[in-house]
Parts: sequence; C-alpha cells; structure tokens
Amino acid sequence: CGIIGYVGDESAQPRLVSGLQKLEYRGYDSAGIALANGDLSVTKRTGLVGDLDLPASSPQTIGIGHTRWSTHGPPTDANAHPHTDCTERVAVVHNGIVGNYDDLRAELPGHTFRSETDTEVVAHLVEEALAEGQDLPEAVASVTERMEGSYALGVVAAGFDGIVVARRASPLVVGYGEGENFVASDVTPLLEHTRSVSYLEDGDVAVVTRDGITVEHEGQPVERARHTIEWDANAAEKGGYDHYMLKEIHEQPQSLRQAIAGRIDDYEDRVDLDLSLSDSFLRDVEEVQLVACGTSYHACLFGKQLIESLADVRATVEYGSEYAVGSGRTPDRTLVIGVSQSGETADTLRGLRAARRSGIRTLGVTNTVGSTVARECDDAVYIQAGPEIGVAATKTFGSQVVTLALLAVAVADARGELDPDRARDLLDDLQRLPGAVQGVLDDEETIRDVAEHYADGDSFFFVGRQFGSPVALEGALKLKEISYDHAEGFPAGELKHGPLALVTENTPVLALLTEGARPDETANNVREVQARGAPVIAFSSATRGEEDVAEQFSIPDLGLLEPLVANVYLQLFAYHLANSKGRPIDKPRNLAKSVTVE
Ligand code: G6P
Repeated sequence: CGIIGYVGDESAQPRLVSGLQKLEYRGYDSAGIALANGDLSVTKRTGLVGDLDLPASSPQTIGIGHTRWSTHGPPTDANAHPHTDCTERVAVVHNGIVGNYDDLRAELPGHTFRSETDTEVVAHLVEEALAEGQDLPEAVASVTERMEGSYALGVVAAGFDGIVVARRASPLVVGYGEGENFVASDVTPLLEHTRSVSYLEDGDVAVVTRDGITVEHEGQPVERARHTIEWDANAAEKGGYDHYMLKEIHEQPQSLRQAIAGRIDDYEDRVDLDLSLSDSFLRDVEEVQLVACGTSYHACLFGKQLIESLADVRATVEYGSEYAVGSGRTPDRTLVIGVSQSGETADTLRGLRAARRSGIRTLGVTNTVGSTVARECDDAVYIQAGPEIGVAATKTFGSQVVTLALLAVAVADARGELDPDRARDLLDDLQRLPGAVQGVLDDEETIRDVAEHYADGDSFFFVGRQFGSPVALEGALKLKEISYDHAEGFPAGELKHGPLALVTENTPVLALLTEGARPDETANNVREVQARGAPVIAFSSATRGEEDVAEQFSIPDLGLLEPLVANVYLQLFAYHLANSKGRPIDKPRNLAKSVTVE
C-alpha cells in the first residue's frame, strides 16, 4: 500500500492525488484521502485514485492519502483507507498488519465498526485516548504501544494542525519543504516537491506540521539524519514510453553501466564495492546463503553459481519465506546476502532477521538507499538502477546479477581464490554487457513480431541450463505476471521428468542455447519438444550458426553473461505479447511492486 501526507499553505488535495498516483504501483484496489483543517472530510472508494469523487478544488491544507493493496478484508469502499472513529474526527491510513486487532477491538465496547479491516481499530483507539485528554501525538504514541504487528501510520484529527505518523516494520519517510512538509511510504511521490528527506526508524512517532518535523522515540526527542535524494524527478516518469515497464527495459544499457560505475579497477582487474565486511571475515567464510523473493530470487540463482565457481565457497539460495537457520551452520563463518530491489519485502526481511538473531553476518543488495534491508544489514551494496515503477521487475534483475558478479569477484579476491584470467574475462564481459543489451533493444521489432505471432499459445515453456536456468525461470515469471498466460520455466534437463507431458504444438518453447547455458545438451531437449510438435524460439550464441528451429535470435559473444543478454529478449517477448492482449502491463492484477506483508 502507499501513504502520502501534506501540511503547508497550499491546497492539500491536488498534492495528495498526485502523490497517490505515483504510489499506485504499491497497490491500487482502492484509494482515499482525508482533509483535516477544522472539520474532517474523507473521500474514499474502490478503484484507482483517478476514480475518487473529489470536489474541483478544496481550501484545506492538511491531509493524508492512501492507495491500498488488500491484506485484511476485500477491496470495498468501506475497507478503503482512511478509516475514521465514531465521532468522525480522527482519520487513519495504515500499511502493515495489526496482529492483535481482534483483542483490541474487544476492548472497545460501544464502538461501531464500519469496515472489516484491522486498521479501523486504530482510529477508535485514538478516539478513546483523545477523550481521556491526550493530545494527538500522545494518543498515537500510546496506541502504538498497544499494537502488535507492523505499521506505517498516518493520523489526522479535526482541530490538530498537522499529521502524526509512526512506524514499525513498514517504511515511512518524511520530506522537508519550504513552509510545507510531507510524509510518504517511499520517496517516489516526494520528488516533485523536495529532495530532502529523513527515514523514520522502527518505534518512531513523528509530528509533521507546516513549520517543522519532530521525531520521538520511546518518548524521547531524536534527530533522524537528513538525506538528499539524487534521483531525477523525471526519471520516475514514463519518459515517452507507453508503459514504465517498456521504459525500464530500455533503460538497461544505462542502468547496467551504473551498476559497475566506479567499481572495476581495469588496471588490476579487481573490484571495489566499498564493503565494510572485513577481508579476514570473508576469507574464513564457509557458506554464503542468498535470500530473496520473486525476480530477486532468480538473480540469486545466477549469483550463486558465480560465487561458487569464482570464490570456491559453498553458496545456497533460499526464498525469504522459507529461510531457516539450519543446525549445521557455523554462524561466524556464514554470510547471508539478502537481495531485494525495494529493500522492504517482508519475506526477505524475515529471513535476514532470523539470520541476525543467530549471530550471522548479513549483507543487503538493494536498489533502495535507506530501505529497511539497507539499514538492518551489517553492510549494504546498492545496485544503482534508479527507480523502478513497473510492477514486473526488469532492469533491476540485470543490475542485481551484475552486482552479485562483482561481489563474487570481490569475495574471491578476499579469499585469495581469484583466478586472474577468469576475473579479467568476467570483468571484460560485464563492461561489454550494456552494448550487447543495446543490440537486443535495437532488434525490438523482430521479437515483437514473434511475440504477437505466438500470442495465442496455450502455455509457454522456458528452458535453459546452468546460467540459462535462472533466466528461463525469470522469463516465465515475466510472461505470467503481465500476460496472465500460463508460463513455466525449467532447467532444460528436467523437461523429460514431467513437464514434457504438457508439450503440444500449441505450447511454444523458448530455449536458451547460449554460452553459459550448456547449449549442446539443451539442444537435445529442444529436439525432444520438437518431436511433440512444439514450436521452438531459440536464443543462441552467434558462434553456433543456424539452429533447426521455428525462430532464432542471435546473442553476441559474451561468455557466461550471454543468458543475461537473452533475458532482455525474453522481457520484450513478455511485454509485447501482453501488450497485444491489452493487459494493464504496469499494474498486473493481484500483484504489487513491494510486498510488505509476510
Ligand atoms: C513482489 C514483486 C516482484 C518482486 C518481489 C521481490 O512480489 O511483484 O516483482 O520480484 O516482490 O521484491 P524485492 O523488492 O524484494 O526485490
């Protein structure tokens, strides 16, 4: 879900609406705003922010807004935020889950509840606290003490000239303006107003007024560091493309360059990631565990193979939601790497926190400076991809893999395992990757025609081996997310152990026949599906020559990174196939960019 708040001299309504529109990628099944000078007025309903039935103009200068992705109670008008108390003088927006909301509700006899959400209980608790004589900041602080679970809260009340916000385990950022101040669940909606922000910490309660922002932690005033956001506000806009996803696919030559910028020492073929983890720790590490979800998980499957082969250390990959600290592991010789574009995925944080509780050192690999992953891990490396708005992750996948490749070199170096020839080859390939990706983008029309030609397939299968295997999984994930067609990825060798039963002449098979994907063996699997009539779309090394397949795309010589180049074709395939079906590409049904619940 997304939260925005404004306090200043200008009309709050247009600022809240514009902010919510920038936050729709965080949830968009319902939306609402509350304005709070003098009386309180709340407008909310299911649907997009643009569907809100708002007056043409509004003089009110204090307000909060919310865009929702349902976790508790279905998307209905009543369940949309903000939620109000019985007196309709308090309005609350909330991200997260109030774990003990049943118990809290039981403590509120006589209160009439109008929604099925866990959030509404907060408005009623604040009402009670105000009735006892507390002011709004005191009321919010005392209510949060009684809440279990996670929250980013924004609260306004009739007669209070500001917004009270609080966070625990759900991100909140405050933004500083001139004669106006802001709050939001991430920086995207703030960029058009200010670049000066502070990230709140777990347990903080802040009061945002026209003239300033004060933060308290456990009842004591605290200062939170101010950060300047470097992102260009335009970078978060669509920039001429029909969809953010397409824009972000096209940004990859640039974002991949940013991932390696300043990090490769060409002269010595070394990598500098500015790690604070010591070389002696890295030298003695016995196991690297990568923890992630979704697309980031696939990037980890790629990274694991690089780390194992370059640094000669065991590496495992686990879903954040499944991660458990096993008994056989030596905490002080284990490194857990949490990979998360947003840095806020609750499942990934859960895994990282479990590791930390066991005394295991953690490293975050994320796109989001100041995110929870970045702040909670012992060390953080940024993938430097710039904001990604499309729900389906594209440019950040490549940047994650590149960052993990650099990390593999750095770890190998620290361990004294770095083979200079292999390091030079990989670093050269990393530097040539943006150009190779540009070559794919220049060939967009060809893959678009192929995608449209096969758009009526019953199912789509993606196969590859070794470094091609995670790319096959990622290619299938992209297609299913945005086209709603059935798509599955397999390590090519696994086809014959089950999935082959699904293969027919109406199931196109996309096969990675590049370097780094054991192409000769995969070519055998291609023949197996062809024998069942399936059309094959192959992505093969330029050096392999012509394949006997329905469609063929040639990938320039780039060693182990060739599957990563082919992945851009798969992104374009998914995009154009979904677009030909008129799907809402940037906001696929049921999905959210950042999932902050477990
Ligand atoms: C959500 C998104 C996916 C993303 C996953 C992990 O499910 O829809 O696109 O891959 O979260 O996100 P993260 O921010 O942790 O990389």
